[in-house]
Amino acid sequence: MPPHPPEDWNDVDAWDRYLRSQARGAPRSADDIESLRFAPMVLREGGRLWVPGCGVDPGPALYAALGCRVTVTDISPFAIGWQTALAAKPAARIARDWKAFTDANQLVPTRGSFVARRQDFTRDPPDGGFDVVINCRAFSQLPPDVQRRAARSFERGLRPAGHLIIDTLNVQGDERTILEDSLLEAGFFIPGQEAERWYRDQLAATGIAHVMVLGRPLIPRWDQYPPDEFAACERRDKAILASFRAAYEARVDAAVPEAKRRLADGVTKIAHVLYATG
Ligand SMILES: C[S@@+](CC[C@H](N)C(=O)[O-])C[C@H]1O[C@@H](n2cnc3c(N)ncnc32)[C@H](O)[C@@H]1O
Repeated sequence: MPPHPPEDWNDVDAWDRYLRSQARGAPRSADDIESLRFAPMVLREGGRLWVPGCGVDPGPALYAALGCRVTVTDISPFAIGWQTALAAKPAARIARDWKAFTDANQLVPTRGSFVARRQDFTRDPPDGGFDVVINCRAFSQLPPDVQRRAARSFERGLRPAGHLIIDTLNVQGDERTILEDSLLEAGFFIPGQEAERWYRDQLAATGIAHVMVLGRPLIPRWDQYPPDEFAACERRDKAILASFRAAYEARVDAAVPEAKRRLADGVTKIAHVLYATG
């Protein structure tokens, strides 16, 4: 049976066991290291990066090889030991196509710095006045009150006008609202959030079972309709869900000037929430 993350996120021993099972020694392709896709933005913002709940993601060590000043934190001693050992390796032994990747993305390898520390990210941030905080898949599964605490910790860790990236997997419906509320409460601005929330609310109010994939509602093949009427019901409900799209897009467009203003004001801390479905 494949190992799963612990049910109890406070269970440090279970995290150690899980992360040990996930840790890979062999180099992989840089394109498969998802957290690396934010590199141009992290460098543009100044390169001071905090990765809370880093686990055994090889991305942070590669950020250090791009000249970033990286701090990774995790409650798992295994993760911290693994990250420390990884960061001592040359980048090409972490990503086998490192040169091709940096050339293709016009990134210049430069020695940065790397600190790995055992720390609960829902408490205090490490010192650093970070430009960017990247949290990959280590947020939405927390209970709402813990998400709120973590959001405040991320907010305190950032310099004015810093950016938080929350990279999620399979977070739908109300869970998105809970997550975003925790960030808003902590003082973050989330570009386009009001339009997304409006769209989510309209879609939910239809009562039609749907999942959001790449920002669009899809009707899943569950047992929500009688099997012999599935196609007709799906067609009908697809049309209902689609009826909100134009108004949603108009709201997205209308929100652009305010987002631009907040992004440029030199003060507002911005949260980017990425929803992937896998
Ligand atoms: C699902 S894993 C994701 C790991 C990594 N970010 C990735 O994308 O591969 C969640 C990670 O968060 C860590 N974690 C959970 N709660 C934490 C907390 N309160 N403070 C710090 N790390 C925590 C776990 O030990 C684990 O490494």
